[in-house]
Amino acid sequence: MQTIKMDMTSGIDAGAMKMAGQILKDGGLVAFPTETVYGLGGNALDAAASAKIYAAKGRPSDNPLIVHIADFDALDSIVKEIPETARKLAEAFWPGPLTMIFRKSDLVPYETTGGLETVAVRMPNHPAALALIREGGGYVAAPSANTSGKPSPTKASHVADDLDGKINAIIDGGDVGIGLESTIVDLTEAAPVILRPGYVNQEMLRQVIGAVELDQALLRDDPNLHPKAPGMKYRHYAPKASLTIVEGTSEAVTEKIKALAAAEEAAGHRAGIIATDETAALYPDGIVKSAGTRADEITIAMHLYNVLREFDELEVSKIFSEAFETPQMGQAIMNRLIKAAGHQIIKV
Ligand code: TXA
Ligand code: MG
Repeated sequence: MQTIKMDMTSGIDAGAMKMAGQILKDGGLVAFPTETVYGLGGNALDAAASAKIYAAKGRPSDNPLIVHIADFDALDSIVKEIPETARKLAEAFWPGPLTMIFRKSDLVPYETTGGLETVAVRMPNHPAALALIREGGGYVAAPSANTSGKPSPTKASHVADDLDGKINAIIDGGDVGIGLESTIVDLTEAAPVILRPGYVNQEMLRQVIGAVELDQALLRDDPNLHPKAPGMKYRHYAPKASLTIVEGTSEAVTEKIKALAAAEEAAGHRAGIIATDETAALYPDGIVKSAGTRADEITIAMHLYNVLREFDELEVSKIFSEAFETPQMGQAIMNRLIKAAGHQIIKV
């Protein structure tokens, strides 16, 4: 299949957007930018389109998709009820990087929800995403637009690397603004639970709806605890080289990583280091990449997946990363990094 590239980096091209919407209505797939990561869109109400999404990504079909909407009123027909907490959260954070889980209506096929009675819904905060959803019929199922097992795409070129020739079109809207997937909160249980941490953190949610728990399976490395979001059980975002996180005070961390990288290089291999603007110059050995600055933690979220993809292209055998327990996005950043590391953490 020839994948059409639609350049909208300097604004929406109305004609091309209409065409992209028509592709969705006809059951095809279009990758598009959102404020979090690029999504791979198909008509959420079309079982066959959802099946195509799973096939293009190589994604296990028990891992449900998020339905993207462009207007709050669109929610009514795809869910059984809208809890008061959801209204408040939508008011506070939509359009934005928050996904909410509802009980689904009959309109949503099980192919979209991975067989579940619930449906995940999000209204993204990106003009191209909102325009595509409106042109495409109002309901766009979209997982991150990567091959299953790769880091989520934060640029259109990442999407092309993974899916060129497998999907109908890619809308290039430039680099995304947040770089990590949306926060997922489940509102179908008695108490709201965060199933995936993201930019909208626990404290921000608490301020709007009171107590919110975090899925315990995300915090503990316990094989008996199963995450409530099916996707969180997979070892996502796994780089080719083995990744180890080093945690501790800044000085102890840089000393430890220096020693680990030196040993790796002495053994004739190449070491990769994920540092920050504050520490990058402190490492004499290995290929050093800064994820961003601790003074502005969103820069770290924004560049993390790109750094992991860059290391995939270099012949490094091991990657050592500083830990990023930053105040606002630390939970989200570390959740992704720990999964990429397959839980290899050294505490110093
Ligand atoms: O930021 C985002 O959310 C991006 C952009 C494209 O919007 N999308 C995204 O989709 O990250 P995906 O498919 O990569 O991740 C969706 C996650 C998975 O972990 C999945 O298991 C979970 O949402 N999920 C979807 N529906 C669910 C449901 N009904 N109950 C529990 N978890 C659900
Ligand atoms: Mg994903």
